[in-house]
Amino acid sequence: MARILVTGGTGYIGSHTVVELMQSGFEVLIVDNLSNSNIQVLDGIEKIVGRRPDFAQLDVADLPKMRELLEKYTDIVAVIHFAASKAVGESVEKPLLYYRNNVLSLVNLLEVMKERGITNLVFSSSCTVYGQPSKEHLPVDETAPIQPALSPYGNTKQINEEIIRDEAHADSSLNAIILRYFNPIGAHPSALIGELPNGVPNNLLPFVTQTAAGLRKELKIFGNDYNTPDGSCIRDYINVVDLAKAHVVAVNRMLKVELRDRVEYFNLGTGRGLSVIEIVDTFEKVTGVKVPHTIVGRREGDIEKVWADPRKANEVLGWKATATVEETLLSAWNWQRHLSE
Ligand code: NAD
Ligand code: WQD
Repeated sequence: MARILVTGGTGYIGSHTVVELMQSGFEVLIVDNLSNSNIQVLDGIEKIVGRRPDFAQLDVADLPKMRELLEKYTDIVAVIHFAASKAVGESVEKPLLYYRNNVLSLVNLLEVMKERGITNLVFSSSCTVYGQPSKEHLPVDETAPIQPALSPYGNTKQINEEIIRDEAHADSSLNAIILRYFNPIGAHPSALIGELPNGVPNNLLPFVTQTAAGLRKELKIFGNDYNTPDGSCIRDYINVVDLAKAHVVAVNRMLKVELRDRVEYFNLGTGRGLSVIEIVDTFEKVTGVKVPHTIVGRREGDIEKVWADPRKANEVLGWKATATVEETLLSAWNWQRHLSE
């Protein structure tokens, strides 16, 4: 049986991906230091799948411990590397933490993969690498220029992509698929796993669901004076289960066919841009719950509008986001209610 090493596998996107991998017949080894997730996530995964993934509480940047662990697992055929710190604001305040965690983890992981003869890597990147694309690059495809990062977090994703590219160039056995996610939202339809924001959420959806649940007084919509139809920012919100499934497709592709290029890049989004105001209105409509909100000034560093051209992923991977935004918002709400139980 083929096993996938999933770093950050108890996190938001990782846990949904572990479910999809196991339901597709893979064995999984999760490595997570639980810095932004908790061990109960494994119970949720087990309830959904009927089996428990192997788990090691470890820092991916701890090279000796990773070596020791992987000596015990000889059946790993690919690695999906989710483990990273991801709070943009925190990265501005603590850049060294972000460079250490996000860059060192990858370097060590690639080293240990090479030692163990593991040649397949799927990496979590972000649409943040495109910054604000110019008009002719909207929707954004993979040929759009990479722009200077707006935060240390964004910079770590660019550096990570470069490290993978350089290593694949130097080591002819490494294959990598770099997935650039747009805005993942929602939760598993079982409401047994979902996003677990730490403290006050920075991202829109957890703030919306916590406000709807009465845990926050009101949502602040950051700006209604952008050059968009209703003045609020536009993003491509992608259902987390759709996103998780793309990882299974990527792993299967690496195992079954020779990649066209040694490193492949895919934008993972729906192809549809929605504004903040549209998200709030649709959430209220599908849940029947009001989200008290006010319009405030722009948030520093926000991109005005960005959404994906996902045709490369559709055509080459044969993957497509299928969930409607209505069902996705409902899944986020059901997860919030589960958390508040
Ligand atoms: P998350 O914080 O929920 O999951 C990351 C997991 O990695 C957590 O469980 C955390 O405990 C673990 N982790 C962090 N550093 C570690 C380390 N050194 N060793 C072991 N475990 C470690 O985040 P997520 O939203 O699931 O994001 C997963 C990946 O996708 C990240 O690389 C993130 O940068 C990327 N990404 C996320 C988004 C998003 O909006 N959520 C968008 C684009 C890209
Ligand atoms: C979405 C929209 C806000 C909160 C960030 C990272 C990016 C990526 C995903 C990983 C924006 C508006 C939000 C609120 C609001 N992560 N908003 N009130 O900014 O697209 O991207 O997360 O790679 O790197 O920068 O996502 O969810 O923070 O915001 O009005 O309380 O919602 O202004 O327009 P963003 P977000």
